[in-house]
Amino acid sequence: MTVALQVKDVHKRFGSHKVLDGFSLDVGTGEILGLLGPNGCGKTTVLSIVCNLLSYDEGEVLLMGEPIHRLSFQASSRLAFCTQRSALYPDLLPAENLLFFARLYGLSEQHCKQRVAELMHDFELEAFATTRAGKLSGGWQQRLHLAVSLVNRPLFLVLDEPTAAVDVQARMDLWRLIDGLREKGTTILLTSHYLPEAERLCSRVALMRHGRVVAAGSVPELLARAPSQAVAKVKATHQEGIIQRASDLGWSVRQHADEIKLFLPQHLNLRDIIDALDGTSVSAVSVHPVTLEDVYLELVGEDPPEAA
Ligand SMILES: Nc1ncnc2c1ncn2[C@@H]1O[C@H](COP(=O)(O)OP(=O)(O)OP(=O)(O)O)[C@@H](O)[C@H]1O
Ligand SMILES: [Mg+2]
Repeated sequence: MTVALQVKDVHKRFGSHKVLDGFSLDVGTGEILGLLGPNGCGKTTVLSIVCNLLSYDEGEVLLMGEPIHRLSFQASSRLAFCTQRSALYPDLLPAENLLFFARLYGLSEQHCKQRVAELMHDFELEAFATTRAGKLSGGWQQRLHLAVSLVNRPLFLVLDEPTAAVDVQARMDLWRLIDGLREKGTTILLTSHYLPEAERLCSRVALMRHGRVVAAGSVPELLARAPSQAVAKVKATHQEGIIQRASDLGWSVRQHADEIKLFLPQHLNLRDIIDALDGTSVSAVSVHPVTLEDVYLELVGEDPPEAA
């Protein structure tokens, strides 16, 4: 796999606030890489730097081997950023929005109109041809927003939370469209708060904490490298006793409303777990394979925002 994007040991401060602290990441050509991390950990900052919209203090960012701040117009115009907040003009129709952005690339009027017609068709926007962008539903606005980012057929596409705040059907439609882009060879770097989205779409996932990547790999690789081998979910009348026992046993613990998650460093069957918790107020126990959510919890140290 050739590397499309290399981010090497990047540091970024906003005043006294250090947001990126040795952030490094490679994105392979043709893959979808998902960058996950809690609110405010610096995901959008990374994407803005990668798209050369924001400077950085130290480090190196290379796109197709070229420093990002020295890309030719031709190379940079094949890089597109679908931002977290919509860039649509609410009073313009879908095709007018597409045409506006297509013209920014300096294509001929004929090329612009042809591309707009293609995107209106591919994204099934024709059904809303006479609806102003601001009056479209959230899911269709997001769809138009994605279409806008494709006007110049980007080779490298950056998507900041592409399915945030849309319903299940719209999310699945967007997944299908994003999958289609990957099938056509587009390299995609996206952020998400929704772990099933990362599992469904991404060839690799990078988990971010304290301004750097704490783990990166395919979902099976991350699961294999998880500190725990299995997770026990426990219900109890007195959670403190269970937490104390688990920490005596050296197990990591995560407390949810009416449930405690125990991260087991080795495979244990139900009998072993019940024996280990003997004398506590445990009322129900179940054992589960480690999921991406568990790996996130252990490595990032907090609940994924959409699971919280
Ligand atoms: N232009 C700026 N000036 C000052 N601080 C900023 C600026 N942009 C971002 N920050 C701060 O940097 C930190 C990281 O912000 P960023 O938007 O990159 O986080 P994020 O991971 O994308 O969060 P979210 O999941 O909420 O979108 C936050 O504390 C934010 O307040
Ligand atoms: Mg963000």
